[in-house]
Amino acid sequence: MAIERLSSSFTPTRPISLPDLLSGRLNLLYRILDDIATPSQHVLLYGDRGVGKTSIARVLAVLSQQADDPRGRRSIVVSCDSNDTYGSIWRKILQEVLLAERQLGFEGYRDRKLVGRWDPNEVINVPNDIRLLLGGLPNPTTIIIDEYDRIEAGGDASRLMTDTIKLFSDSMTPCSIVLVGVGQSIEQLITAHESVSRNIDYVPVDPLEATELAQIIQKGMGKAGITFDDGIDFRIAHLSQGYPHYTHLLGQWAGRRALERGTNHVTDSDLEAAIPQSIETAAGGVRVEYDKATDSTQPNNLFKEVLLACALADKDVRGRFSLADIHEPLQRVLHRYRVARSSYQRHLALFCEPEHGPVLVKTGRRKNYRWHFANPQLVPFVRLRGINDKMISA
Ligand SMILES: Nc1ncnc2c1ncn2[C@@H]1O[C@H](COP(=O)(O)OP(=O)(O)OP(=O)(O)O)[C@@H](O)[C@H]1O
Ligand SMILES: [Mg+2]
Repeated sequence: MAIERLSSSFTPTRPISLPDLLSGRLNLLYRILDDIATPSQHVLLYGDRGVGKTSIARVLAVLSQQADDPRGRRSIVVSCDSNDTYGSIWRKILQEVLLAERQLGFEGYRDRKLVGRWDPNEVINVPNDIRLLLGGLPNPTTIIIDEYDRIEAGGDASRLMTDTIKLFSDSMTPCSIVLVGVGQSIEQLITAHESVSRNIDYVPVDPLEATELAQIIQKGMGKAGITFDDGIDFRIAHLSQGYPHYTHLLGQWAGRRALERGTNHVTDSDLEAAIPQSIETAAGGVRVEYDKATDSTQPNNLFKEVLLACALADKDVRGRFSLADIHEPLQRVLHRYRVARSSYQRHLALFCEPEHGPVLVKTGRRKNYRWHFANPQLVPFVRLRGINDKMISA
């Protein structure tokens, strides 16, 4: 059934695990695979929420594993939560090793080497104990720790993890650690001390390019047996603003709208009809953030209009824009030529207050201030809301 194929072709809320389904990211994967193949080299993969970090991590786990080779590399993926300590993260990892031993066969399974050495009830809190346990594994291992930003920055767990990476590097332990987390700067994720920095490759994950997003639509529609009007793939890519969650969402809903009309061909009007449902089902807390940012009891306020102008503004590579950058988009949104600077300046200041999120973050110095969205996934969402509320055309 086409409707079921559509659900499996587009996965707005599920990370990708199969290499074939991952769009772009090839150079990034080569770089990390090279790191993994280099003794004493570890990786920190970081980027904004929703850019596709977990998908890269999962595909990496598949690609770095040499499942057919009894002595080949094995990979383990675990995810952190806010209750995790250094000990609980390694406990999860070792439990996964035990599971993988049975399923995939770490070479030493027959002798039950690891089980004999690690008692799951035992608390392990010392980096050197981890080194001994991991160093004793019969296969080289890649350990991928996702959601690493849930760990308190600069806390015990983060400090001990950095010590562990240093220890693994110094002792050439055949185990590569890949930390994955949200963060604009590496300082937010790792207690960096100079000596460990050269053993860690800091790999940023950027939003996807339009051609890569368009490819998600081309592949997904092809897999579902659905065709589309020329240019729809790039229109969806443009609406997604670098964030693949929106590409999957719009592709899925546009396909469903076409099937409801009894056809396998998506047109522009199907895409338009897909927008309300995409807004309704957008993940990542964006709807709550939007409501909080624009909520006001003041009559004639411009919160929605100014936020939309911010989402439409030209931005630098780090998503930052200046006061001047929002002037023209705001003229467009308000359909008027004269727009007082003071009116939007005040709204920008309020957007940086906790009462409105803060939805924006202000950086830079006087006369050269810059703003960016605290959650960049809000950019495509705010633009889609603007289209849906008829504030701008698609
Ligand atoms: N390269 C890609 N090709 C196709 N789809 C992708 C790609 N990267 C991510 N996606 C899709 O985008 C969505 C978000 O991806 P993912 O969960 O990997 O992001 P994330 O950065 O880990 O998000 P979070 O910060 O919320 O943990 C998922 O639906 C996933 O299927
Ligand atoms: Mg993730």
